Amino acid sequence: MASSFSSHIDFVLLLLVYFSLSNAQLMRIIFDLERDPSTLQYMIIINQGTPLVQKNIVVDLGGHLPWLSCHKGYNSSLHRPVSCTSPQCSQVNGPGSRCVLNPVTRFIRKGELISDLVTVTSNPDSQVTVDASTRRLAFGCATTGNILSGLAKGAKGVAGLGLLTYTPLLINPKSKEEYFVDVKSIEVHGETVPINKNLLSINKITGVGGTKIDILIPYTTVETSIYKAFTKAYTRWAERFKNANAEVHDFPSITMVSPVAPFTTCFNSSAVPPVTMFLNNKPPRVAFIFPKSVWNISLFDLVRVNDGVDCVGFVDGGSKPKTSIVIGARQIGFLEFDISRSRLGFQEPNLSDE
Ligand SMILES: *[C@@H]1O[C@H](CO)[C@@H](O)[C@H](O)[C@H]1NC(C)=O
Ligand SMILES: *[C@@H]1O[C@H](CO)[C@@H](O)[C@H](O)[C@H]1NC(C)=O
Ligand SMILES: *[C@@H]1O[C@H](CO)[C@@H](O)[C@H](O)[C@H]1NC(C)=O
Ligand SMILES: *[C@@H]1O[C@H](CO)[C@@H](O)[C@H](O)[C@H]1NC(C)=O
Repeated sequence: MASSFSSHIDFVLLLLVYFSLSNAQLMRIIFDLERDPSTLQYMIIINQGTPLVQKNIVVDLGGHLPWLSCHKGYNSSLHRPVSCTSPQCSQVNGPGSRCVLNPVTRFIRKGELISDLVTVTSNPDSQVTVDASTRRLAFGCATTGNILSGLAKGAKGVAGLGLLTYTPLLINPKSKEEYFVDVKSIEVHGETVPINKNLLSINKITGVGGTKIDILIPYTTVETSIYKAFTKAYTRWAERFKNANAEVHDFPSITMVSPVAPFTTCFNSSAVPPVTMFLNNKPPRVAFIFPKSVWNISLFDLVRVNDGVDCVGFVDGGSKPKTSIVIGARQIGFLEFDISRSRLGFQEPNLSDE
C-alpha cells in the first residue's frame, strides 16, 4: 500500500467528509485517498465492527449507500439491524429498498441494513481538527459471496459519496496540478463584495489570478482589495445589528476588539449571536458564487481565536498574490475532488446537526 501511495502521489486526494448517515451525527474527517494501481479505484481505510477490524473500502463518487460485505459471517458483537421504518433507513437507502449495488459490475445483491461502530484514522499531516471518535453508522451489509468482484484487491465494501453539488474544476495552464474553480463573486451576509473582476480570472499566459482550493492552508487567503471589501462587509453587519438593536434591545451589540493575528477584524464573542438564533431568522452567510451553483460557508466564517474573541477567519494575502483567492481548510465543509470528471463536489454542513 505504501508503494502505491507514493507512486501515485498525483492522485492522492484529501477529502473532508461529513458522514451524516446516522441520526444527527456528523464526523469531519480527512482521508488520504489511496489509488489501487491495477483498478485505479480510490480507497479509504476504516475501522469497523466490535472488535474493530481495519477494512479497505472503495470510494464510489456516485453511490449513496455505503456497504460492506457480510458474507462468511460478520463478526461483531454490537451490530444491530436497522428497521426499515426508521428515518435512518430511508436516509441511506431510499424507502423500502434492501439491496446493495456494486458500482463496477452493476450487480445488485440482497443486503440487510445494519448499524455498527466505525472509527477512521484521519490524515496525520492535516491541520484540520478532526473528530475521530467512534460512531454508530448505518450501512448495507451484503450477504452474498460475489458482491466484491471487480473491486480493488482487498476491498471489503463501498462508500458512496453521492448527493453533492458540483462545479467544474478549471485548468491553470501554469499550475496544472492545482485545483482551480470559477468563483464569479462572493457574498457576505447577502451583500455582494465589490471585487475587481480581473482578479477572478486566470491569466492564460502568466497563470496569475483566479481561485484555487488548498486544503493544506488553514484559512482562506485573499488579495488585499478583496480582503478589505470583505472585512468591511462584516463591520457593516455589526453596525446593522447595532442599529436594529437600538430599536429592539434584545441582544448586546456586537463590538469590535483588538485583532488577533493573522486576522484584522475581531469581535467580542459574548455579543456575537449564537448560531441557534439564526435558525429561525436570516442566518449570516458567506457564499462563493459559481456559474451554476452556490457554495455557502456559513458558520465557518468566524473563528474563535481565544476566550471571548471571534475573528473574521480570512487572511490578507497581499496586493500581488499569484492566486487571488485561496480557499483553505477552515471554510470547507465537504469536498470531493472528482478528477475523472474534472469537477469539485461540495456540500454544506447541516446546521441542524451542528
Ligand atoms: C439536517 O438534519 C436534520 C436533523 O438530523 C434533518 O431533519 C434534516 O433533514 C437535515 N437536512 C438536510 C438538508 O439533510
Ligand atoms: C470473533 O470475535 C471474537 C471476539 O469477539 C473472537 O474471539 C473470535 O475469534 C472472532 N471470530 C472470527 C472468525 O474472527
Ligand atoms: C466582551 O464583553 C463583555 C461584556 O460586556 C466584557 O465583560 C468583556 O471584557 C469583553 N471582552 C473583550 C475582549 O473586550
Ligand atoms: C445558501 O444559504 C442561503 C441562505 O441561508 C440559502 O437561501 C441558499 O439556498 C443556500 N444555497 C444553497 C446552494 O443551498
